Parts: sequence; C-alpha cells; structure tokens
Amino acid sequence: MKGIDFPKDENLLVGFLHNEDAGIYRLTDGMAVVSTLDFFTPIIDDPFIYGEIAMANALSDLYAMGSKPITALNIIGYNQKLFPKEVISEILKGGSERLKESGAVLLGGHTIKDKEIFYGASVNGLINPRDIITNAGAKPGDLLILTKPLGTGIITTALKNKKIEIEDAMECIDQMRMLNNTASKIMLKHNAHSATDVTGFGLIGHAIEMADASDVSTVFYYDKIPKDSLAEELVKKGIYPGGSGENLEYFGRNCLISDDLSEAQRAVAFDVQTSGGLLISFAEEDAYNALNELYNNGITKATILGRILDKQEKTIIIER
Ligand code: CO
Ligand code: CO
Repeated sequence: MKGIDFPKDENLLVGFLHNEDAGIYRLTDGMAVVSTLDFFTPIIDDPFIYGEIAMANALSDLYAMGSKPITALNIIGYNQKLFPKEVISEILKGGSERLKESGAVLLGGHTIKDKEIFYGASVNGLINPRDIITNAGAKPGDLLILTKPLGTGIITTALKNKKIEIEDAMECIDQMRMLNNTASKIMLKHNAHSATDVTGFGLIGHAIEMADASDVSTVFYYDKIPKDSLAEELVKKGIYPGGSGENLEYFGRNCLISDDLSEAQRAVAFDVQTSGGLLISFAEEDAYNALNELYNNGITKATILGRILDKQEKTIIIER
C-alpha cells in the first residue's frame, strides 16, 4: 500500500510490512488481538456450502498466525429483488455452522444492496504475543508442510462451466470447508518457525511472500505437492481460471522451474486457491512429528513438499 502513511504505534505488533495474513495489536503484555477481513463472490452454486467456505476462508488467516478466533462480523452483498430470500439465509447458515465449529461468536454484521452476491466476515482472535507465527520466520534447512491439496481454482471453474458434476468436486469442497483449526494447533505444538495460508496468490505466490519476509529461498518438489486428483486432467482439457494464469505470469518470474514439469503441472502449481491449507515451515524433526500428528487427526492430504534454502538468485525453485 504505497503512498499511505500508516500510523506508528508501539502496540502494533504486525501491520502491513510483510503481507502478513492478519494484523495484530497488543492489548496487554500477555494478550494481543488479531484482526482480518475476507469476502468474495460465490465460487459454487450451493448457497450453504458457499457460506461454509467463505467463513472457513475468513477464519483461516487467524489460524495461520496461531490465533484462536473469538468474534466475527458478517459482511454481505445481496439484492432481495434479484435473489430468493432462501439464498441469503442458506449462505448465513453455512457460515454460522463453520463459525460455531471454530468456537467464535457472531456479533453482527452489515448488508449492502448489490447486484452481485458476496459474503465473508471480519474475524478477530486472541493470541499471546510470544506465540505469534508470522511468515517471516522460515530458516534454511526447514521442511515445508502444506495441509490441503491444490486445485480449488481449477475444480470450481470446471464446476461452474459444467465440465464436472458436483460429486466429482466433493473432494475439493470438503477440503475448502474444512477449518484450519487443527492444523494450526498442531503447528503451534511442534514449534513451527513460519506459516501462511494458501489463498488467492496460490502456493507459489504465498511461498514467495514467506521467502521474501524470511530472506530465504524455497525449493518445492512437484510430485510431493498435495493436489486434487482431477486437477491435472482438467487443465489438459483447457479448464483453468484466469487468476491462475495471472499467478503463473506474475510469480513465475521469481521461479526456476524444472524442464521436467509439463504445462499442466505448472498450471496446477500456480492455481489460485480459496480456503487453502496452511503452508508451514518446521525444523526437520518437528516436521516429521507434525506430519504424523496431522495424519492422525484426519488431515490426511498433508505432505512435506519442500525445503527452505539459503537465499538464491531465484526465490522459488520447482523440481519434479
Ligand atoms: Co492469508
Ligand atoms: Co486474507
């Protein structure tokens, strides 16, 4: 955000500096409030599921920083003349279902009249300042874990264009509506050095933010990247969201990509994500222990997919 002079404040612990997932403001020595806001237009026709995904996505930034959600405010765009009343109530029910699971409470919200539907939430969490996990702590030698598969952009685009049925998308939908709460707990327990959640900029875009903030480079092993089982196949049929192409073009400049990777594989690696998993760096032994615990807690798509390196000429290296 160039050109804006943000106020300095000794209690502002995390601000705009490194594109962090949420802002953090210290209340007392042992307690800080973590705040973030996210909303988007429907990525799926089912209003209840859309509500679930939007709330899981909003909460995710809190989990990425190691915080526990406490409160939420809904933000809604909607026009009752254009959509049946049931649509909005289903969206809100879906959101409230995921919010309940997080343990946070809804304080209220705001609706504006709009010709497009949008939904999301502003959410707040609490954290002890000592426990904050930022995207700036990755150290050379760390291993990286991603807790959800890539491919949500590709799958939802295919669904929107009626190239697949809803049953084919369930694997992806279940991942998108899953909270990152358990992953967050496990990363704290195993002394994560750094974390972020994978959303609009895709795996590589968010990995670049982490690497830049930590002053390191990162190598990913494509075959280890967790991905939706249909993703590559759909890209080969030309089904690919525009945002993912933009990611490849923009972030690809900072990457050294092995010639062994096909077009389709590149496309999957840069796919734009909604409500993606946590990308977490751990010391080597902690990474294996964390992966085990993720598995045992039902986060069975998680993999160790890369390693943090000393800073290289390119920020990201992608090998097979
Ligand atoms: Co984020
Ligand atoms: Co966000």
